[in-house]
Amino acid sequence: MPLVVLGVTGCIGAYKAAEVLRELQKRGADVRVVMTPNAARFVSPMTFEALSRHPVFLDQFALGEEGEIQHVSLADAAELLLVAPATANTIGKFANGIADDALSTLFTATKAPVLVAPAMNVNMFEHPAIVANLETLRRRGVAFVEPGSGYLACGWLGKGRLAEVGDIVNAAMARLARRSDLAGESVLVTAGPTVEDLDPVRFVSNRSSGKMGYRLAEAARDRGARVVLVSGPTALPAPSGLEVVAVRSAAEMHAAVMARFEAASVLAMAAAVSDYRPAQAFAQKLKKAEGGLNVEMVRTPDILREVAARKGARFVIGFAAETEKLVESARRKRVEKKADLIVANDVSEDGAVFGNDENAAVLIDAAGETRVARTSKRALADRIWDRVVDLRKKA
Ligand code: CTP
Repeated sequence: MPLVVLGVTGCIGAYKAAEVLRELQKRGADVRVVMTPNAARFVSPMTFEALSRHPVFLDQFALGEEGEIQHVSLADAAELLLVAPATANTIGKFANGIADDALSTLFTATKAPVLVAPAMNVNMFEHPAIVANLETLRRRGVAFVEPGSGYLACGWLGKGRLAEVGDIVNAAMARLARRSDLAGESVLVTAGPTVEDLDPVRFVSNRSSGKMGYRLAEAARDRGARVVLVSGPTALPAPSGLEVVAVRSAAEMHAAVMARFEAASVLAMAAAVSDYRPAQAFAQKLKKAEGGLNVEMVRTPDILREVAARKGARFVIGFAAETEKLVESARRKRVEKKADLIVANDVSEDGAVFGNDENAAVLIDAAGETRVARTSKRALADRIWDRVVDLRKKA
């Protein structure tokens, strides 16, 4: 019976935490509740004590039943910390390491995966401070159940309403199931664009933001893998808990992957590697002249093809960005490049993929195809790893 610690914070959605608790129990979890003092103003701790059949952890200075220090013992025993609903205040404390109540103290003391279901007013949700805090936590491996849109308790219309109980519980169960299913794997992920210099000020590149590769690397880390992320230049902060290798050109990415491929058990080539680079990178800035400019471009090494040709027992994932005949081209690409799995993206829709936080894809492997409807890149990353785990188990 997995132990889920349910954190409840002070907002009107606190009453829904009782339903979350019941639903988690129905799905086989043992639930212990931690409340902030403000949560106790909305719902009595007795409600949660009666439902969970455990004392509620409310006072961070109170010792447990057997004299133990609860924020440590509970943090250690937890297999998942689920915070639903999570206020802007508690999210801010989590992001900044402030530990001034039972829940925020437990958060800093636990190594368990953390899932947060925020609930707040739409303007609060969009405030740059909150956006930054959410991003900080995401980068550190905290997962979120996105709030829904609709009428908020404060009378406003917009995003901020606590997600549906069913969605919260589904996300919690999925997080528990995925806890360590990539333990023992050494995952090498490439991400972002490559930049091919023409001269000291000009270059050829592409619109990749790197988000998909970063989310893929973070998801693998959260599922117990040792992760190396080889990244082209992006605007993204380096995720913690994994090794980041910064590269610029296709040639540098090629060298970085080749040096680390031997030690890897899984390679995911999410990078948008330039297929061509200027034949010559000029040492001095090119001066303009009358008439046009012809730049000779030459091919870069196809990293995916090269590593897949000598992959042995390693699992190789390629990405295919297509603007037409998505599945057909990606299927062909998988066979041609000898990849085990191809993640096919439709990039024809303007702005649908590049730089976006969401994506839809078709996962193509030897056994068939899995369509993933538009979802967050993190959720897509988890679907990709689900498929990898499945296929590795069968092999
Ligand atoms: N890739 C690579 N090395 C390159 C180019 C691409 O390893 N020099 C990898 C990418 O990381 C991706 C996959 O190949 O995983 C497919 O990339 P795609 O955008 O489909 O481009 P190409 O394979 O080059 O195919 P085409 O441009 O002909 O559609």
